[in-house]
Amino acid sequence: MTLLKINNLKVYYYTRRGIVKAVDNVSLAMNKGEMVGLVGESGSGKSTLGLSIIRVLPPQAKIISGSVIFNGTDLLKLSEREMRKIRGKEISMVFQDPLTSLDPLQKIGDQIVETILEHEPNISKQEAYNMAKKALQEVGIPPDRIGNYPHQLSGGQRQRVMIALAMVLKPKLIIADEPTTALDVIVQDRIMELLSALKKEYGMSILFITHDLALAAERSDKIAVMYAGHLYEYGSSTDVVNKPLHPYTEGLIESIPDVFMRKEIKEIPGQPPDLTKPPSGCRFHPRCPYRMPKCSREEPPILQVNGRLVKCWLYS
Ligand SMILES: Nc1ncnc2c1ncn2[C@@H]1O[C@H](COP(=O)(O)OP(=O)(O)OP(=O)(O)O)[C@@H](O)[C@H]1O
Ligand SMILES: [Mg+2]
Repeated sequence: MTLLKINNLKVYYYTRRGIVKAVDNVSLAMNKGEMVGLVGESGSGKSTLGLSIIRVLPPQAKIISGSVIFNGTDLLKLSEREMRKIRGKEISMVFQDPLTSLDPLQKIGDQIVETILEHEPNISKQEAYNMAKKALQEVGIPPDRIGNYPHQLSGGQRQRVMIALAMVLKPKLIIADEPTTALDVIVQDRIMELLSALKKEYGMSILFITHDLALAAERSDKIAVMYAGHLYEYGSSTDVVNKPLHPYTEGLIESIPDVFMRKEIKEIPGQPPDLTKPPSGCRFHPRCPYRMPKCSREEPPILQVNGRLVKCWLYS
């Protein structure tokens, strides 16, 4: 069942350098209980897409057009007051750096209690406290840490607290934006395991944003590939990784280092474009090894190929 359906979303930043077309006509659907890995190089628009869903964009950003249908409601049509009821309760977000989201002067337990009471005023303080304790336990934080301040915890533990905060009200969707980037590989893997467990246990959907395709593919059901503000490929993780259709996806896969050094790492030549002046036609054409004359002239449509979506002239 579809939980989230983003249709033709355009989000631009108005800057002194010009208009940054960060998300430009992106459509993406997610099912209930599904983990979708949203990948792409830095600056491809992944975070902008995530922030647009819960509408916490910076002031210079503007949603130009499109819709974000969540559970049947267009979130872009809601008032800020209505949106506040959804944030944290129906959809929550986990960011890369927990220190910017956690209040350094407040005990972690109190922060979780506050979040609960904000959305559920009928719950008693004691009950909220018990819920907070349980949430911390579920993410693997020992209960005696409930009175700790963020700085008394390790980076991995702080990220777990962020996840406890995000999941305590059992939202339908968690948007996790590079939640493991600042952590070492072992802790990274544990956090991923934790997100997978929440998905399984509560049927939560997770939009997992990362530049690390290998990490995303390990746990996600589907992979969405963004480049320069466009969605270029979307399909099941196994399909996308085993047989990438888009040349950009192929490039991303070839640039994944192999721990056994069995293959050569090939970087995608060139750089992502300046999104105030994106390339004409297919935005990937200047870097594409398969480019044809048409690619610089006309933007490819999104095509359905073998149960997958791909935006490339090679398939039309
Ligand atoms: N607050 C902002 N003001 C102006 N431009 C912005 C702002 N945030 C992002 N951008 C621009 O929008 C485009 C998309 O950025 P975004 O942060 O969404 O990409 P991303 O895929 O999340 O990248 P990263 O992997 O580095 O997090 C980039 O060109 C970026 O420079
Ligand atoms: Mg980002």
